[in-house]
Amino acid sequence: MKYLLYLEFFTLIFLVSNCSKVDSRIIQETSEFEVVEPPSDFFLSSLCPSGWKTEKGSCVINYQYINSLEKNGGLGQTLPDVKLDPKVIDLGRYLFFDPILSGDKQLSCAHCHHPAYSLSDGRKQSIGKDGTGYGPERKNGVVLKRSAPSLWNVLYMKHLFWEGRAANLEDQADGPLYSPDEMGSSPTIIESRLNENPFYQKMFRQAYGLKGTKISAELVVDAISSFERSLVSFSSRFDKWSTGDKDALSEEELLGYNVFRSFVARCAECHPPPMFTNNVFATIGVLDSGVRDYGRETITGQDLLRGSFRVPSLRNIAKTAPYMHAGNLETLEEVVNFYNEGGGRGNGAPSDLRIHWHVRKMGLSQNEITSLISFLKTLTDESSMPKFPKSVPSGLPVALELESYHRSSKK
Ligand code: HEC
Ligand code: HEC
Repeated sequence: MKYLLYLEFFTLIFLVSNCSKVDSRIIQETSEFEVVEPPSDFFLSSLCPSGWKTEKGSCVINYQYINSLEKNGGLGQTLPDVKLDPKVIDLGRYLFFDPILSGDKQLSCAHCHHPAYSLSDGRKQSIGKDGTGYGPERKNGVVLKRSAPSLWNVLYMKHLFWEGRAANLEDQADGPLYSPDEMGSSPTIIESRLNENPFYQKMFRQAYGLKGTKISAELVVDAISSFERSLVSFSSRFDKWSTGDKDALSEEELLGYNVFRSFVARCAECHPPPMFTNNVFATIGVLDSGVRDYGRETITGQDLLRGSFRVPSLRNIAKTAPYMHAGNLETLEEVVNFYNEGGGRGNGAPSDLRIHWHVRKMGLSQNEITSLISFLKTLTDESSMPKFPKSVPSGLPVALELESYHRSSKK
């Protein structure tokens, strides 16, 4: 009975808010990233990226049903009314791909948040300083404690990092930039290098109208944050279905969605649509890779929150394996089996963890497990994947294998 009520509640929400309008702009599931030659004179683009439209010179979210996303809950707040400057986004994109920001000029944000791996790195734990290569092939450097999250929809996250130690993207960026284990840089290094670079001087003038003033590390972070905010993903087949196209999901996927929001699996309690996160912290008992990770407790000091992490969004989840803060679950099958066996309760998690009461043995059938996984795969939409600059203003090599460039330029 409870189960039925729950289903009806969701159906009602969808009926009220979606009015069976299908958005024809929905495009999805492009896994190939695009490599572009920068304009010879390095002019910043005044066009808004995919997923955004121009309104009075600014970029605003381009989907009408964004309003229904707000009403559908899942965020516990109204979506921020984001206005971005297209030139600043574009500048942030170059900075994101340019190793010039790291102390040894070897590492860019894109090495660990790479388009080929859906803005993550395909690794269990990321490799920072002194490593070579990018993505799963990166080797020989400092192994970080945690797995790199993808950056899709970070603009909607209330807390950043797995244990939520940063409250906004501006604070977050100081982490990788200045950590000696990661990019090992400093504001002085960044400022002196960029102010000596005529391309960057020109770009900052175009983006911020700087006249005679120097480029500051704050502006660098501001531009990167704008770029990160532009990385939206809400045009998946699930969105198509939830805005009225009833053929967008197969029967198996719909069964999977019903399992997802059922009182048995309870996935939607913590990962509610539309963002598939409730933006709070929960302990599910994932085992750590190596050193013990106390998660949110290290921030608040509450032992109740020992081993709890921010509930991650599940958008593009099929593209961002391996999973969890420790990257120790390699496939969606492993994730669903982990939950089905009772999460940490069934996996020997330390006994001092207060595992959330929604996480217990489920007894899902094989058919339910397979459907649930099929449903998770309907949350893929990489249509706002940023274009990969073939070269960057510093002239340093970007995290791009020639092979993948040929692959995408053959299209
Ligand atoms: C060496 C690999 C590496 C590099 C380089 C790197 N990151 Fe990360 N990034 C990570 C890892 C690992 C985490 C998770 C760390 C944690 O939670 O403690 C992370 C977390 C993040 C988050 C938080 C996402 C979320 O959902 O909470 C953002 C945003 C981010 N990085 C942006 C950047 C930016 C911008 C840069 C460049 C200035 C950058 N990263 C460089 C590995 C990297
Ligand atoms: C009590 C809240 C809660 C419930 C219920 C829950 N999750 Fe999670 N989920 C989390 C948290 C917290 C994490 C991150 C844990 C970590 O990294 O240690 C997570 C992580 C995940 C991840 C990995 C995300 C990534 O980016 O690595 C997937 C996939 C996932 N959950 C799917 C599900 C499915 C499917 C269900 C239902 C069977 C479910 N979750 C039920 C809280 C929950």
